[in-house]
Amino acid sequence: MSSLIDTFDRRFYYLRLSVTDVCNFRCTYCLPDGYRPQSVRNKGFLSLDEIRRVSRAFVAAGTEKIRLTGGEPSLRRDFTEIIAAVRENPELRKIAMTTNGYRMQRDIQQWRDAGLTAVNVSIDSLDARQFYAITGQDKLHQVMSGIDAAFEAGFAQVKVNTVLMKDLNSHQLHTFLDWIKSRPIQLRFIELMETGEGSALFRKHHVSGEVIRQQLLRLGWQLQVRAKDDGPAQVFSHPEYQGSIGLIMPYEKDFCLSCNRLRVSAIGNLHLCLFGEHGIPLRDLLADDQHQDELLARIRHSLGRKKQTHFLHQGNTGITQNLSFIGG
Ligand code: GTP
Ligand code: 5AD
Ligand code: SF4
Repeated sequence: MSSLIDTFDRRFYYLRLSVTDVCNFRCTYCLPDGYRPQSVRNKGFLSLDEIRRVSRAFVAAGTEKIRLTGGEPSLRRDFTEIIAAVRENPELRKIAMTTNGYRMQRDIQQWRDAGLTAVNVSIDSLDARQFYAITGQDKLHQVMSGIDAAFEAGFAQVKVNTVLMKDLNSHQLHTFLDWIKSRPIQLRFIELMETGEGSALFRKHHVSGEVIRQQLLRLGWQLQVRAKDDGPAQVFSHPEYQGSIGLIMPYEKDFCLSCNRLRVSAIGNLHLCLFGEHGIPLRDLLADDQHQDELLARIRHSLGRKKQTHFLHQGNTGITQNLSFIGG
């Protein structure tokens, strides 16, 4: 099978496909004022057929894993149909989603039946009041019940994303560790990234994941050996814990060496990186089935422009206003 390889010999087998940029949460680091529709998006989000075509093209180019992202992907009424449309590609090893968890309790079984194989949920605090302060939604209990529902529906593991913030959650490692002691959860601390709308928050709350790394090592956690195609998270495990901890540290110099993913935004633009570039339009080739070869050629050709790194470690913030637009 063919594959997508860039000029730095990185293989891209993972597509993050955003299906909407609408979100009903107001995370302080992402959409502090809530969702605001922008005129550039008024052509609407990719339709089910466009999603079918774009995923087919990426699979033909060697994609083995598609993650559905947003905004909040489950706010699309046809979300279950979207999973089923992506599932039509038997070559896919994994169909995942990243969600704020709002609809999980209600819908996770239906998503699994449609073909979803993995779910990542955002939880920045295990304290209900702090969760509300960060997300603008008093829904910690509902999201936790959603995770229980995922296990009941048959998911062997759930990943939880926690954006690491100084003075908010960076001193709560023990609370998180107690939580994953007997649950098969991989909790990933993500370093807060500076986006176009988040400079002040970044200056106030950014803290390096190194703080957590040192604590974990002191507590006997061990860094797992990376498999060849693993993404940028460093994963730690401990014999007494069922769960594991991942660290996503985009400000580390070598973070992008293991980049394995491409992104398509909800309006059909290909983004070669989370930071630092405008998207490359694909939508003109998604209107019918006649342009699949051309689509594949454009994806391959565009990959030649992918840079070695996002240069966040050298102070770049790029043009990304917030991550809800490209799906994190
Ligand atoms: P797995 O496939 O389960 O390993 O998940 P993932 O880490 O690819 O997906 P998820 O949506 O859970 O990602 C968590 C967050 O990590 C994203 O929303 C981003 O904030 C951050 N992240 C993921 N990929 C990248 C990347 O390529 N660059 C940077 N800077 N951050 C990333
Ligand atoms: N910095 C770090 N992570 C972010 N996310 C969104 N915005 C940021 C940011 N500025 C992450 C959230 C969520 C995922 C979809 O994106 O943790 O889990
Ligand atoms: Fe919504 Fe996710 Fe952004 Fe929070 S981080 S506002 S849940 S898109």
